[in-house]
Amino acid sequence: MDPKRRAGEEAVKLVEDGMLVGLGTGSTAYWVIMEIGNCVKAGLNITAVPTSIRSEELARSLGIPLIPLDDIPTGGIDLTIDGADEADGDLNLIKGGGGALLREKIIASNSKRLVIVADASKEVKTLGQFPLPVEIVPFGFKLTMGRLEAIGGHPALRLTEGDEPFVTDNGNYIADCRFGVIEDAAALEKTLNLIPGVVENGLFVGMAERIVVGREDGNVSVR
Ligand code: 5RP
Repeated sequence: MDPKRRAGEEAVKLVEDGMLVGLGTGSTAYWVIMEIGNCVKAGLNITAVPTSIRSEELARSLGIPLIPLDDIPTGGIDLTIDGADEADGDLNLIKGGGGALLREKIIASNSKRLVIVADASKEVKTLGQFPLPVEIVPFGFKLTMGRLEAIGGHPALRLTEGDEPFVTDNGNYIADCRFGVIEDAAALEKTLNLIPGVVENGLFVGMAERIVVGREDGNVSVR
C-alpha cells in the first residue's frame, strides 16, 4: 500500500467519537480525510475544520460535517492531522509545499494535538533541504523578497504552470526560500515574521506531538 495512505489511515485511529478535528492539506492528508470520511459513514460523530479550500471541498464531498472557524473557541480543536515537507528529530517541521501554510498554522496553533503524517522521505536530520515557503502579501512583494534575500533566503517567487504568481487561498504569494541548513528554526521563524510583508512562514517549531511515518514495506512507525 502507498506509504502515505498507510500513515494517513494509521493516524486516523487517534480520532475519537465527538472530536473536532483539523484536516490538513496535501497528498498524505488526502488519505486522512478519506479515512475520516469512512469513519463518518460508519456513524462516528466527528466535526472538522479544513486547512485549505482543497481539503474543504474533499471533506464536503465525503459528507464530513464542517464547522465554521468563527464558531469554535480559541484552542478548541481536539486533534489536527496534517502532512509535512520535512520533519527533524525534534519534530520541528517545514510545511507549505502545497501553499496552505498560513491556514495550517492557524489550525495547528488552535489544536490541542498536532499529529503529522508522512512517508519516510520527509524525515531529515536538520531542516533546510526543502525550500522554506514564506507567504507574502502581493503589495510590494519584490521589496519583501529583497528583505528575504538580505537575510540569506535566496527567495524564488512560486509560479503556476502558466508562469503566473501562485496565489494562496488567502490571496497572497509564496516566496520559496533556500537558507541552506537551518540550525536554529525557532529563531528563523521569528525573524521571518518580523519582516513587513511577510504574513507567515512554513517553520512549525515545537508544535507537533508525534509523527506517523508510512514505509515502503507496509509498516508504520510512530514517534
Ligand atoms: C501543504 C503542506 C503539506 O502538508 C506538505 O506540503 C506535505 O504534502 P504531501 O503530503 O503532499 O507531501 O504543508 O501546505
